[in-house]
Amino acid sequence: MNSVDHDRSLGGLRVGMVGLGMIFSDTYEPFFETVWRRPIYDRAHGVCEVTLAAVASRTGSRVEACRQKLAGRLPDFSSYCGENSVDDLLRHPVDVVCVATPDDRHFDIALRALRAGKHVLIEKPSVLELSQLDELVAVAQSNKVLAKVVYHKLLDPDHKRLRTLVMNGSLRHVNHGYCSLLEPKSISSNQFSEWIQGRNPGTYVAVHYIKLIDFTFGGKLLSVQCSGQRGIVGPATGNTWDSTQLRLNYRYESGRDATFDIHTSWVTPNNFPGYVEQEVQFRFDNGVWLAHGRRRGVECTIEDRTPTDFKISLNNHYSAAFLEPWNETTRRGYGVEAIEQFMREVAYVEHGGSASDRNSRLKSMAERNYNELASDRQVVAAVQAMESLLTAHAQGYPDGVVRVNDSHGGLSLYLPGKSEPHPLYAGQV
Ligand SMILES: NC(=O)c1ccc[n+]([C@@H]2O[C@H](COP(=O)([O-])OP(=O)(O)OC[C@H]3O[C@@H](n4cnc5c(N)ncnc54)[C@H](O)[C@@H]3O)[C@@H](O)[C@H]2O)c1
Repeated sequence: MNSVDHDRSLGGLRVGMVGLGMIFSDTYEPFFETVWRRPIYDRAHGVCEVTLAAVASRTGSRVEACRQKLAGRLPDFSSYCGENSVDDLLRHPVDVVCVATPDDRHFDIALRALRAGKHVLIEKPSVLELSQLDELVAVAQSNKVLAKVVYHKLLDPDHKRLRTLVMNGSLRHVNHGYCSLLEPKSISSNQFSEWIQGRNPGTYVAVHYIKLIDFTFGGKLLSVQCSGQRGIVGPATGNTWDSTQLRLNYRYESGRDATFDIHTSWVTPNNFPGYVEQEVQFRFDNGVWLAHGRRRGVECTIEDRTPTDFKISLNNHYSAAFLEPWNETTRRGYGVEAIEQFMREVAYVEHGGSASDRNSRLKSMAERNYNELASDRQVVAAVQAMESLLTAHAQGYPDGVVRVNDSHGGLSLYLPGKSEPHPLYAGQV
């Protein structure tokens, strides 16, 4: 591994963006626009300019539209596309790389960026296997950079409040819960049609709730089960899934257990009023937490526009455009805040004090376990287990269970009719 030059004496942070799809438009674009208007400030480092320096994408088809949209709102940026776009971007002088490509392409891109000594932010799910997580964490540590993942639901004010009530003991011991996230058919048939073959909605969206449960309630993951349905996005006997039902079992320090069911789909009718329908319920010893996207507050109907090009259930907390009372147009929300928070952490590492103290600043930012890659172990374990269970199902072996840290290893897949488990990960999860 090459040693990495950490001389970033120029100040500011230059960001390279890989992937210019839906999540870029929803959260990164408003972040770059906002930070260009109002740079990050902290007493530790003063003003820190954060600029979008370069972008890389597969075909480059969205770059021109993006450039035109952002003209006058952002300085111009370099763009690379095609086979070598990521390597080209890494030759560009960037300090940070954000990875917002389809989830099965995160690992390779993040690895190359970390090897090049860049701080890395990956969209959820970070990676699909624990061995990949191990490798990224090792390279980040060795090259002394941050490697983090975006789970913006942790920054949703409702979920912050939930965690507050759990942490201060108002809500005591979660026993069980369910979460449901239903995406419209347009996502599977249109938006993601290029990469959907062999994929499932659980890895794409159940992972939001896996993280919420794992981070909010703590505990040790014991086992994972998953069922699923096919026949709309792909053939009824194929390996592309319409919907999935994931079950996670946890054990807490008290010796007590909890079970969570997470149902997801990306084939809900496009005109379903919820559009992206989200619901969670957690049952505690002394209480119930129930949240529903359509009960958050606002529903808006506009003739000929809702629910297809305009959503009926508005989530004004995630990422939305606002005309502020002083007539400034802004775009903000917890989706944008998650990216800003990461940039603040990098700014603190690079510019928050003397070069000799960089290591201690790096350590303190790396210890923030809400977004740190090394703290994503149980989430990645659940994703790897879910993917393995669905693969086994597609091969004719449904109804398996993956056990975590049992006598056979870190992750072991048990299938009905097979006497021995199939090892998925040898080390401890
Ligand atoms: N946090 C959220 O709520 C949320 C929402 C949507 C998506 N996401 C995540 O963001 C990621 C991207 O999702 P999306 O919806 O923006 O997808 P998308 O299909 O809309 O866009 C993917 C982008 O990646 C680029 N790309 C694909 N392969 C590439 C490669 N090998 N090299 C360089 N660029 C490549 C494509 O050109 C495209 O610009 C996924 O990991 C997804 O899970 C998160």
